[in-house]
Amino acid sequence: MSRVYNFSAGPAVLPEEVLREAQEEMLDYRGCGMSVMEMSHRSSVFQQIIDEAESDLRQLMNIPKEYKVLFLQGGASLQFAMIPMNLMKNRVADYIVTGQWAKKAYQEAQKYGKANKIASSEDQTFSYIPDCSDLPVSPDADYVYICENNTIYGTKFKELPNTKGKLLVSDVSSCFLSEPVDVSRYGILYGGVQKNIGPAGMVIAIVREDLITEDVLPGTPTMMMYKTHADAGSMYNTPNCWSIYMCGKVFQWLKRMGGLSVMKERNEEKAKILYDFLDSSKMFRGTVVPKDRSLMNVPFVTGDSELDAKFVKEAKAAGFENLKGHRTVGGMRASIYNAMPKEGVEALVAFMKEFEEANL
Ligand SMILES: Cc1ncc(COP(=O)(O)O)c(C=O)c1O
Repeated sequence: MSRVYNFSAGPAVLPEEVLREAQEEMLDYRGCGMSVMEMSHRSSVFQQIIDEAESDLRQLMNIPKEYKVLFLQGGASLQFAMIPMNLMKNRVADYIVTGQWAKKAYQEAQKYGKANKIASSEDQTFSYIPDCSDLPVSPDADYVYICENNTIYGTKFKELPNTKGKLLVSDVSSCFLSEPVDVSRYGILYGGVQKNIGPAGMVIAIVREDLITEDVLPGTPTMMMYKTHADAGSMYNTPNCWSIYMCGKVFQWLKRMGGLSVMKERNEEKAKILYDFLDSSKMFRGTVVPKDRSLMNVPFVTGDSELDAKFVKEAKAAGFENLKGHRTVGGMRASIYNAMPKEGVEALVAFMKEFEEANL
């Protein structure tokens, strides 16, 4: 068996010890005689798995008791509709558009009401985060929406926007559990788990309790009401049992690692290795304004698309997978989520140095 260094933006690298644990439990989960994929979600064994997952996540993120944790399906993309359906009481919401995912959410919200783009960084290919200290927040906005870490462009909100008292809704898909957050500053934060947490096919939404009501837009499907899932402990229908189980294992791994403050330090250390090299390189450069750089997704280019392609090809042959940039941006992108070890980033930088010397 040989494992590569996997820099995929998602689905992405998982901690090796978590994969090994799952492997050990695959045929017989703790004496049940079956795998977690085969057991009823109504069984007491599975109930314990989901309860522990929730309680570990609450501990890791220090989630206040007035927030519900929901394990939902439909990916992060379904939230683009679920959020307006559940929150747009005045049919007005403000969107800060800092990349494709925020743009998709903004476009989806237009189906349900007046979605205002109150700031954008599209003028410079989303390579920065706009100043959000004094935006024209609509007086009747039901919420202000951001995508906190822009997976494709590699930018991150280092400070949350001034929402002028309005509810903040944030897509944290690609920075979930990468550092501590103050949950109480959000109305809803949510993310697809397939980047920094577990297997694809699930989204975790952390929703302030008072936002979970039956007062949703007319026609909202039962499955798209937060209340349906909150009332049923995320088991109104069959949930993504496998993903919940694997996410639970990652939460336990994160606790063993020392929690989110330790992860933040590790992530800063890893990202610095790569950014320092990009800043000193004569061939490669990062594409993001330094102050807005993401710790998780690092896009970079040589400035020559043929050389980029050669780099990606040779990197793959050397055991560095999924370094090709998003199809809309080109160049390269290294996603260095929690589970990417520091050695992986060091090895990548050593390879980039060799490539630079050989091709300059
Ligand atoms: C920030 C962000 N939001 C939303 C999505 C969409 O997630 P999903 O594929 O789970 O719908 C992605 C990536 O896939 C993402 O990176």
